[in-house]
Amino acid sequence: MSGIKTRCLVRGSINVDEFFHVKEVVRPGETIASTQFERRGGGKGANQAAAVARAGGSVALVGAVGEDGRWHRDDLEKFGVSVDQVSVVQTEPTGRAIIQLTPAGENCIILYKGANFALTESPADIQARLTGITHLLLQNEIPWDTTVAYLIQAHKQGTVTVFNPSPMPSDEQLHGFPWASLSWLLVNEVEIADLLNALEGKHVADIQDPLSNIRKLSTHPRFSPAVNVVCTLGASGVLMHMPSIPEPIKVPAAKLQGTVRDTTGAGDCFTGYLVAELMRAHERGASAQLSREELVNVVKRCAQAAGMCVEKRGAMESIPAREEVEKRLL
Ligand code: ADP
Ligand code: NA
Repeated sequence: MSGIKTRCLVRGSINVDEFFHVKEVVRPGETIASTQFERRGGGKGANQAAAVARAGGSVALVGAVGEDGRWHRDDLEKFGVSVDQVSVVQTEPTGRAIIQLTPAGENCIILYKGANFALTESPADIQARLTGITHLLLQNEIPWDTTVAYLIQAHKQGTVTVFNPSPMPSDEQLHGFPWASLSWLLVNEVEIADLLNALEGKHVADIQDPLSNIRKLSTHPRFSPAVNVVCTLGASGVLMHMPSIPEPIKVPAAKLQGTVRDTTGAGDCFTGYLVAELMRAHERGASAQLSREELVNVVKRCAQAAGMCVEKRGAMESIPAREEVEKRLL
């Protein structure tokens, strides 16, 4: 052991997800009854921070909830996430997702940003929060300028940066994005196509052809050649591009025990595990640029964890603990 200690910071969203089970989604002017109601803690920042913690990583979340979101903050703490920097604001309710679900598997979602957009942080605040942080994890459910400011500051101080551009930023935002500050990009097959189209300024990407998309993205003049790209493909597994290796690498999805119950949160589970695995590699003293073999091993673990997540209902609740993942890999 090298004795290096790692610490992850997630600057991201915290939502309350409210699920209404309905026969069909509501139409304009209509009032309908729902047959079942569930309320769960969500938000990509919160889910991914919970996954880092479940995977054994030391992690703090920076974000905000309203008074109505204290229970979610408490739940995150029980998951092992440090929540001292999750503010409870008085001016806004907690971010919300109102989700209608039908038996046919359709869904409709209304989002409200709420407290996720209520924090104001000066450059000095950001610098203070990043002190001692070895790994930074970002999504796109908070103000764009905040995400970019964290990324630039983190890279400047030598922190490993990981970005999951979900939901997809606008073309304008992507054109101005500081790719050179990014170590790892995490996307799914739709996001990589959208990203390539945005950088190209016209429709060039075929969603059905992620292999071609990852090749084109990683060599794109507007992209940075130093970024590691990981593209999840649902049941088809994962594609990766590493700067030191010319050809993309493919890792299959985990074999499931039983059927797919709920794919919600599989991507967030994968992302949190990836960061925790990068932290472990760092602690083992692996160089910043993993070898092909190291990366394949890391991604196999993440795919196993995400596979276990789809076997169970829910997002945060279905993230497996590291020991359970290890057992399945034996
Ligand atoms: P997102 O939810 O972000 O679109 P994906 O659907 O690509 O993410 O899923 C993320 C990862 O979860 C996949 O790379 C895979 O490892 C795992 N996964 C998702 N769906 C399945 C499935 N049906 N069977 C096995 N693994 C799955
Ligand atoms: Na999913």
